[in-house]
Amino acid sequence: MSKYLYEHFKDNFRVGAAISGIILMSGEERQTLFEHIKQRYEEFKKNFKPQPGMPEFKFPEPKPFPTGEMPDKKLAAEHFNLVVAENECKMASVYKGPDEFDFSGADRLLKFAKENNQAMRWHTLVWHQQSPRWIFEDGNGGKASKELLEERLKKYIMTVGARYKDDICSVDVVNECISDKNFGLRDGKDRSQWFDILGPEYIDKAFIWAKEAFPNSRLVINDYNLEMIKGKREGMYKLVKGMLERGVPVDTVGLQMHINIKNPSVKEIEETIELYGSLGLNVIVTEMDVSAYVDKDFQNPDPRREYDQAFMDLQAERYAQIFECFQKEARAGILKDVVFWGVTDGMSWKNNFPAQGRTDAPLLFDKDGKEKAAFYKLLDL
Ligand code: XIL
Repeated sequence: MSKYLYEHFKDNFRVGAAISGIILMSGEERQTLFEHIKQRYEEFKKNFKPQPGMPEFKFPEPKPFPTGEMPDKKLAAEHFNLVVAENECKMASVYKGPDEFDFSGADRLLKFAKENNQAMRWHTLVWHQQSPRWIFEDGNGGKASKELLEERLKKYIMTVGARYKDDICSVDVVNECISDKNFGLRDGKDRSQWFDILGPEYIDKAFIWAKEAFPNSRLVINDYNLEMIKGKREGMYKLVKGMLERGVPVDTVGLQMHINIKNPSVKEIEETIELYGSLGLNVIVTEMDVSAYVDKDFQNPDPRREYDQAFMDLQAERYAQIFECFQKEARAGILKDVVFWGVTDGMSWKNNFPAQGRTDAPLLFDKDGKEKAAFYKLLDL
């Protein structure tokens, strides 16, 4: 039996983790970043205007980052053979102006990956969130034209590819493009300025450019709740089937798998993987975590629960059942990688989503970096 996750599953799939840029920073850099965040928070608070639905300012004060080495870094180096940046390879982090790129975060992660013999993914080229504001503007107070935005997007994809194509095993080309309302494409009313300005063909174009830019990487279309909601799963199926028929070079569906202790069932996960597999596509689990909360209604999230032994055992059992399914789908040749969205519970984005400040416990290591029951159970499979 191996001590390390990646080694344990190496005959089936790579095991990856999203790495927060913060864990790779020095204490001093973290302090500077914290001061910057604090200053922005104060400005935001000062300028806050009450709105219907949000009458009061209720965002918690930012907390300073730990100053010393965080357990995440060593665990990330030891247990995973694949990494992805939690934020540093998103367009807003990289594309700073029409002729301005900031690759410092991406380079730092790539260096870490190389030092630790890990593969690296790129998340993400096109997304309706965490895109820079300037890209949708024409510089004269108006909206960018279709031609201008296309030119900028193509330039972005080609520039990133020119720098990283030999180092990136898979690229999330388009992220979260399926609407939760009608399971068609997310449009302008649904916050996608890409769709709004470029029309539905932006997806095909992004993949065609991505193929040119990253000729040897898997090209992924990535989304959430594909296992959880049958209509969304089918909406994605329709989209990728059409893309394949049009000869668009998509080869992989990314299942984010931000799931919870109860839903979806293992059967739904299995059916989802096999549905995309039936089109000859690969599947990657791109952002897995198993929240303690079911949160049926995001406006009224569940109250915080205790993370006692009974919870840890329940979560361990749930992880084990899902990973058995993953092993089966890897042996069937469909599933290629399984990536966790973070390393320790303490650093998980779920501590602030969907309920700000309600600490969650969705990963395999607790906030101090100690292995949880789920970790041991997976190594027992
Ligand atoms: C999240 C990060 O984890 C947070 O740190 C950030 O503040 C917001 O984005 N789906 C995605 C990821 O595709 O990029 C998101 O990551 C989580 C949901």
